[in-house]
Amino acid sequence: MGVAFYKALKYGLGPVRKSKKLEIEILGAESLGVRGLCCFIGCGDRNVLIDPGIALGYKRHRLLPHPFQVAVDERIQRKILDRWQSATDIVISHFHGDHVPLADANPFQLNIRQVLGLNPDVRMWVKAPDAYTPIERERAADLALMLKTDLLAETGRHEAMTFSRPVPHGDYNSSDTVMMTRIESERVFVHASDIQLLNEEAVLQILDWRPDVALVGGPPLYLSRLSENQIRNAWRNALRLARGVDCLILDHHLMRNFEGEAWLEKLSRQSGSRVMCSADFMNTPRMLLEASRQKLYRDMPVSPSWHESYGMGTADTDAYWHKAGKLYPDLALL
Ligand SMILES: [Fe+2]
Repeated sequence: MGVAFYKALKYGLGPVRKSKKLEIEILGAESLGVRGLCCFIGCGDRNVLIDPGIALGYKRHRLLPHPFQVAVDERIQRKILDRWQSATDIVISHFHGDHVPLADANPFQLNIRQVLGLNPDVRMWVKAPDAYTPIERERAADLALMLKTDLLAETGRHEAMTFSRPVPHGDYNSSDTVMMTRIESERVFVHASDIQLLNEEAVLQILDWRPDVALVGGPPLYLSRLSENQIRNAWRNALRLARGVDCLILDHHLMRNFEGEAWLEKLSRQSGSRVMCSADFMNTPRMLLEASRQKLYRDMPVSPSWHESYGMGTADTDAYWHKAGKLYPDLALL
């Protein structure tokens, strides 16, 4: 289907779920078929769910999400809900709809109503409220009110977790910010979503944290507004990170088009380091479904009324899931 599939075995590194002390499971990301950068980290007696949100690019190439994308989204939503129940801590890097459940979610996002009562005692960690944008302030209030919980907004170290102060979401001109998280046990893991490798401040913080494994949001090469200068800057930052981190996982905006995938391959070659996407790390075939949306529509045509029917609960994704299983056997869909 035009999606390159290859595995973490190529690098001699797979998911580390069997480790007793630091277990990393990436649940949602563009290379796994959806928008987001959600992961579940087990370390000692803590289970930390980071960025429990999900989205699909609402319109790409003037097309709504293909039902097969929606089928993958449904399955990842179920995983996130399952991990939500066993989490001791939930961390939200920022309040964009691909990172947190929403009160007004669209059909492809997690709705706060889906997590009501699932885990009332879980601790929820968020970035400093003075860095919220107006929409983030509203979304944080919705979450706290509907879940009847306090949102813990503290930077610095708390047990195995360390939270950064807010850093730019992309370049310095953005008023949006994100909080990065470091988790330490016998190894160090860092989650740095949406920094896009466009600001040095975030990259220097990650390097200073000395991670063994870093899961980082790469540059949005699919956006035509990204300047040549920004792309060069992202490349420099990516090389620095790749050389300073034992295993660098780059995903999110970067994997929304095939140019991003090629950029990742080039980085892997030039750095000589272990650089991969989330699917590689999880030892599963890459599914750049947003990048493949036009092909999905060609391979599996969709009735013009399907999305409206799905929104009303009178259409489902089953036929598309099964058809994709036959058309793309490499995906090994179950
Ligand atoms: Fe994001």
